[in-house]
Amino acid sequence: MTSEPSTVAAAPAAAPQPAAPERRARRLGDPMPDELRDEGERLSADELAALQLTRLRSTLRRAYEHVEHYRRKFDAAGVKPQDCRTLPDLARFPFTTKADLRETYPFGMFAVPMSEVRRIHASSGTTGRATVVGYTENDLAMWAGVMARSIRAAGGRPGHKVHISYGYGLFTGGLGAHYGAERAGCVVIPASGGMTARQVQLIRDFEPEIIMVTPSYMLTLLDEFERQGIDPRTSSLQVGIFGAEPWTEQMRAEIEERAGLHAVDIYGLSEVIGPGVAQECVDAKDGLHVWEDHFYPEVVDPDTDSVLPQGERGELVFTSLTKEALPIIRYRTRDLTRLLAGTARAPFRRIKKITGRCDDLIILRGVNVFPSQIEEIVLRTPGVSPHFQLELTRQGRMDHLTVRAEARPEADPAQRDAAALAIAAAVKDGIGVTVDVAIVASESLERSVGKLQRVKDLRDR
Ligand code: DLL
Repeated sequence: MTSEPSTVAAAPAAAPQPAAPERRARRLGDPMPDELRDEGERLSADELAALQLTRLRSTLRRAYEHVEHYRRKFDAAGVKPQDCRTLPDLARFPFTTKADLRETYPFGMFAVPMSEVRRIHASSGTTGRATVVGYTENDLAMWAGVMARSIRAAGGRPGHKVHISYGYGLFTGGLGAHYGAERAGCVVIPASGGMTARQVQLIRDFEPEIIMVTPSYMLTLLDEFERQGIDPRTSSLQVGIFGAEPWTEQMRAEIEERAGLHAVDIYGLSEVIGPGVAQECVDAKDGLHVWEDHFYPEVVDPDTDSVLPQGERGELVFTSLTKEALPIIRYRTRDLTRLLAGTARAPFRRIKKITGRCDDLIILRGVNVFPSQIEEIVLRTPGVSPHFQLELTRQGRMDHLTVRAEARPEADPAQRDAAALAIAAAVKDGIGVTVDVAIVASESLERSVGKLQRVKDLRDR
């Protein structure tokens, strides 16, 4: 990656320039120099554990003393903040769920007076009341700090231009990425979502090194590049920092191949802070390091609620360690993953790429199906594009799943038929259930401009 300042000049119209994505990719894959680590990233395992315990005890006290809802829950469970003497003692405290935030809507979980709150974000609330989160000045500074750390882990360096296509507004993606990129010394291009043709123009003219966007909207952008007759591999982009929705390794391969960049994963959720809870390092791409000096992770069995040992798959649970406005205790994310030992950023532990949520699970005639399993199959099938949708219907008393996948523009009718048969057979063999497959015309499915709604559930109509 170059550190020379790039000039902002209009790119020559549609003239394919000689692409050098391979060379760029190798350079960016270098491990991050040690001097770029911040204070938290230099902690030893013992120092980290000691810091976590101190911060955890103070967070539990803050929650108990300043939030009535927490006080009632702790009292009902018969625990007091001082009962937490070791990190595993956290397991004695009650969980927090989206329902707690809804019950106390809008500001009932805030632990500070409004005079100390500097910003509010909220989830979209498509399935009930929105969940509202608040930030003090220190919270915003911490968030910018962990986001800057994430951007550095992804290869971002001072002077790099960062094109942000996460939505700006109540959603945490846009503003979270924005202040993190500024903190990392980068040049922010606050594009937000939508106006896809213009985004492509901006990328060509401003020549950003980094793009931050949902993986599904990245596909929409790549289609637009191609629609304009431009090979996206010739763009200036070297790294994509993709998150806010599940995406598989097959999707990573598809995007890296088509865009000629490094695709790395960023994870977060508004209740915990927003983006920047965990981040994949560009040089390792081996899962996401959790920024554990601020967010303490546990993985629990979603059925029995017991804490699982490292390496076992279950529901990810987070406790904030430094948040002031909205301390969050044992928040059930609904996201399914495993905790793994740290590598490039040890002693911070990693989570495995998240490809499923408890609520995503489709139980089809007794067989568990995650949309990500279908994504893996569609993306390795020749003749179809990575755009697909799942439609759930009820036929009599039976649930029925239809996979609608778009044909590649060049696919002829015989290739489309072969693709339909191949997808149905792979689902039957690999997952063990029969689905209908419809190969639909190229560009006929709705495109994502942010978080993609992969499953259309039409069963209640
Ligand atoms: O999506 C925050 C975010 C913005 C993360 C931009 C990354 C980039 P929420 O809207 O509260 O916050 O949604 C959080 O999105 O519980 C996961 O189910 C899902 N999610 C977020 N990142 C990933 C990821 C933002 N990298 C919910 N992989 C989470 C899989 C993800 N799922």
